Amino acid sequence: MRQPLVIGNWKMNGRRHEAEDLLAAVVRGTADLVSVGIAVCPPYLYLPTALGVLGATGAIACGAQDVSAYTDGAFTGEVSAEMIRDIGCRFAIIGHSERRTLFGETDAVVAKKFARAQEAGLTPVLCVGETAAERDQGQTELVVSRQIEAIVAECGAASLAAAVLAYEPVWAIGTGRAAAPAEAQRVHAFIRRVVARHSTSAAQALRVLYGGSVKAQNARDLFIQDDIDGGLIGGASLLAAEFVGICRAAHLG
Ligand code: 13P
Repeated sequence: MRQPLVIGNWKMNGRRHEAEDLLAAVVRGTADLVSVGIAVCPPYLYLPTALGVLGATGAIACGAQDVSAYTDGAFTGEVSAEMIRDIGCRFAIIGHSERRTLFGETDAVVAKKFARAQEAGLTPVLCVGETAAERDQGQTELVVSRQIEAIVAECGAASLAAAVLAYEPVWAIGTGRAAAPAEAQRVHAFIRRVVARHSTSAAQALRVLYGGSVKAQNARDLFIQDDIDGGLIGGASLLAAEFVGICRAAHLG
């Protein structure tokens, strides 16, 4: 049995007092959900604030939205995986489509970031997914398998066993148009088959989250699918009631 996992990706949003208020409400609203893994990924600057509010209970984990592809050194403006682990984070989102498309991250750069995160003791949350144009051309499976194989080439197949994958179709992100549960399930099952080519045990253990316009209202229909193990939540993770509702749906799903 894979424990369901819900991760909030706040992206570049919020201010310190909003982070404090939001997290206090999420802690209150999810206190009884012991069977669901929950994590939040605020902007780097608010990670210490978040870790402070979440305290030592460890019930809700913290993650970063990115890490440097480099280890510590002369890399102005970068934040290393070691630093993120040092302050108490457990996760790092790697290869989000916004980083791939807006900041030119290639599969090779994403694989280096994945490696740095794992070396530092963080659990990478590797984002994969096709654009609308790629979907229209029937290339979803090609794109997703290429993105996964880039990690296997750099880090080996065993690295996937200690990671989390997030299928985030780019056309579903921030559009209010989530993938239909059956379509998402089909791609999640495919992702598991790609991993199984290298290791059947890794494929079985791997948690594959769905991301893209998940709300409290549509979460359960997604999370009850066999190969969907939770969600990576953008906009709805900024609203306490929505995020708590999604965590509750994972509990039921
Ligand atoms: P939305 O939930 O806002 O569509 O964003 C999804 C996402 O990109 C999470 O990483």
